[in-house]
Amino acid sequence: MNTVIYYFTGTGNSLAVARDIASRLDAELIGIPAAVKAPQEIQKDACVGIVYPLYAGGLPNVVVRFLKTVSLRNAGYVFFVATEGGKMGAPASQISRLSAAAGHTADACWWIQMPDNYIPLSAPPETAEQKNMYDAARRKVAVIAESVKNREHHLESMSFAGKLFGFAYGPFIKTLPASDRKFTISANCSECGVCAEVCPADNIRIGEHGNNVWLHQCEGCLACLHFCPEEAINIGKKTELRARYRHPSVSIADMKKQKGKSL
Ligand SMILES: Cc1cc2nc3c(=O)[nH]c(=O)nc-3n(C[C@H](O)[C@H](O)[C@H](O)COP(=O)(O)O)c2cc1C
Repeated sequence: MNTVIYYFTGTGNSLAVARDIASRLDAELIGIPAAVKAPQEIQKDACVGIVYPLYAGGLPNVVVRFLKTVSLRNAGYVFFVATEGGKMGAPASQISRLSAAAGHTADACWWIQMPDNYIPLSAPPETAEQKNMYDAARRKVAVIAESVKNREHHLESMSFAGKLFGFAYGPFIKTLPASDRKFTISANCSECGVCAEVCPADNIRIGEHGNNVWLHQCEGCLACLHFCPEEAINIGKKTELRARYRHPSVSIADMKKQKGKSL
């Protein structure tokens, strides 16, 4: 049976997880930023996976848009995997609603803790802790892959704290497209263009002397901030002293690939 995994990533965690699942299931990998721009043909009885980062206890905007454009009617099995910095769980009710509207009610959803990339709130974990998370993630991916092979029905849901936090999702997710207004660029900017290359939303036009233009179609993923080699992009003062984070296995070329572009 054909298996395809759609993924969205800002700093590589979800791509690393998607790759690990894909290698165990011999699946094709397709970036969601590329998939929303081109019609997707889901083969009859295909197994479809969707891997994404949790945003304010819910799905990123681009993943919601994808689920509103794709038809899952042909799919034989549909599963979702969230990567997240905390332990909130998976947004099972949002997933079930969107997946059903796309033509196939979600069969399974899981969540996996990975290093938190939301540095406006807190610094990413230390390297040793990151490594422990990667090891634990690989163990959970092994379990997930077996469950998918056996077409198991298994909906992990939100923790109690995650459900309480749920009220924040709606207002927060609406602010993300224009959240780029808060980005600042320091004099360290070397105009290398990496921020524009990695941006999954093609939201950045490089200007001279660091005068980048932000197009207010931001996904809020923070790829620009974390991948900038000069650490020149910040959100106010809060992020200036915080370390950057990106998954060690994910390159700038990988980030371009998720939007259907090669180097
Ligand atoms: C805009 C934004 C909102 C986030 N909200 C949450 C959240 O509500 N709960 C959580 O545990 N992690 C949250 N995070 C952390 C990410 O979900 C986590 O680090 C994820 O693994 C990043 O995946 P990526 O590298 O594929 O982008 C958030 C990150 C961003 C950028």
